[in-house]
Amino acid sequence: AATARYEAETSPAVCTGAIESDWTGYSGSGFCNATNATSGYAQFTVTSSAAGTATVAVRFANGTTTARPANIIVNGTTVSTVSFEGTSTWTGWTTKTLTVPVNSGSNTIRLSPTTATGLPNVDYLEA
Ligand code: GCU
Repeated sequence: AATARYEAETSPAVCTGAIESDWTGYSGSGFCNATNATSGYAQFTVTSSAAGTATVAVRFANGTTTARPANIIVNGTTVSTVSFEGTSTWTGWTTKTLTVPVNSGSNTIRLSPTTATGLPNVDYLEA
């Protein structure tokens, strides 16, 4: 199926933090700067035409040199943990590709940080 882009700043995506646009290079009108805490997440609602596995790409920037790991929670179940390594600058957007299980129809994919530094800035998810 064709790849769709789900912007972090566009409902039904959820950003528990602030939608910001102060670092250039983002897609759409901004990015999610989630609260720097394990409670600060970004969530996307992704439509799949079939049950199985989906390849999803997450675009992010982590302007530090320390990874900001996050659990990948699909429809409420943690399916993996991803590192979201440092990209050195906040304009250093990069893309991470993951494989996740999906149901046919609507799926929530939440990036839920495992450390108190929280998530990187998150631009979009493509699936
Ligand atoms: C800086 C930066 C933010 C970023 C934050 C962080 O404040 O301007 O875009 O989200 O650091 O450490 O998460």
